[in-house]
Amino acid sequence: MGIEKKAAELAQVIQQQEHVDIITHCDADGITGAAIAKQALDRAGIQNEVRVVRYLNKQVLEETRSFAWLIDLGNGNIRDIKKGQTVITDHHFSNEYYEYSLNPFYFGVDGETQVSGAGLAHMVASRIADIDATLAIIGAIGDLQDVQHRRLVGLNRVLLRNSRIDAKKDLRMYGRNQPLFRMIAYASDPAIPGLFKRDRSAIGFLTHLGIDYKKSWVECTHEERKTLFSALVKILLERGFGYHHAERLFGEVYEMDGEDIRNHATLLNSIGKYGEGESAVAMCIEEKFDGEAIRRKHRNRIRKYIAYAKSRLDGYGELYYFHGGTYIIDTVVGTIAGMLLRDEDFAGPLLAFAENDEGIKVSARAPYPLVQKGLNLSLAMKHTAQMLGGDGGGHRAAAGALIPKGMEEQFLHMFDAEIKNQLTR
Ligand code: C5P
Ligand code: ZN
Repeated sequence: MGIEKKAAELAQVIQQQEHVDIITHCDADGITGAAIAKQALDRAGIQNEVRVVRYLNKQVLEETRSFAWLIDLGNGNIRDIKKGQTVITDHHFSNEYYEYSLNPFYFGVDGETQVSGAGLAHMVASRIADIDATLAIIGAIGDLQDVQHRRLVGLNRVLLRNSRIDAKKDLRMYGRNQPLFRMIAYASDPAIPGLFKRDRSAIGFLTHLGIDYKKSWVECTHEERKTLFSALVKILLERGFGYHHAERLFGEVYEMDGEDIRNHATLLNSIGKYGEGESAVAMCIEEKFDGEAIRRKHRNRIRKYIAYAKSRLDGYGELYYFHGGTYIIDTVVGTIAGMLLRDEDFAGPLLAFAENDEGIKVSARAPYPLVQKGLNLSLAMKHTAQMLGGDGGGHRAAAGALIPKGMEEQFLHMFDAEIKNQLTR
């Protein structure tokens, strides 16, 4: 059976229900996916309720009283779901088979680049009611599905044609409507060597090219764009990056009513992270992506969190740490740690704890010089968490874990030993 046929089968199963619980993941992909599902069910006259969760666990599943539609999650929980009473549209990899799952990997479709959770939800929802794929594209972009190939591919292309999103070839940098110096200094894929996070150098570079640094990319003339683009390519090539790296500057970008939809996705992600996913779903349905009030609220919250973290900052061996308790929400404690690390000079890794329903969330961030000396937070995090009955992972400079409550002291002790071991090898 092909993926399209499976989608039609799942749509039929859903249409037989009186009530559906839509359970979704709290990021842009999950939120847009839930909005798509909800619109379809509303139009078909099927009662429904949306729940946006950070992760799926037994408790969430047990609280589900009616038929469930799991979006952007569920593939990792097949053992615990009510079989026959659940439909899954999730693009995360899973080996386990379940009849009512539209798992792209069953059909040879890559769930990292070709279709997202929202796209899969759309494949089913569009067979229940006539719904365009605009939100599915915002979800895919939120999931960074365009990053690898610098454009959407596979099923995402089919969805794109069925959406109100404009695709065009352009500079891929974020912030094409912001002042050029900022756009260039904060570009990260690729970062521009010598200009990265250096506003002054970026201003100097633009001035040298004879381009007003306060202008935005969209305000530039064709000639200015050509000049700037060539100069950026030249920097990358001169610094020894190959053509394939420089090529990443250019690709497809996606806009709705002239606005880069990465902005919409970022907004949805941040609302979801702060535990207000249901209101983000409503925003999607109303297509009101005006985020200024929300951004202001979040900025205030972050300021309070940072002050709290600073007031509780302490040291342990090679480490710095703070405990956010239940005050700092666990989904952003890592972001807060990253901001502190950027603001202040830390000689060692910074650990951050926060309490959630499941246990203690741990986040770690390390100054880059330590990573160059061989520090690997991901390994230290995984080892330490696993020894304490939790689990974790991540990257060399940024990692996270979940451990049982009450284990913070032990964690600090063991993590510190791991770090010392890594740095003296
Ligand atoms: O949550 P935080 O921002 O600190 O996560 C940093 C990195 O650690 C992320 O790349 C995430 O994938 C990883 N992580 C993990 N296991 C966890 C939490 C985070 O692998 N339980
Ligand atoms: Zn996703």
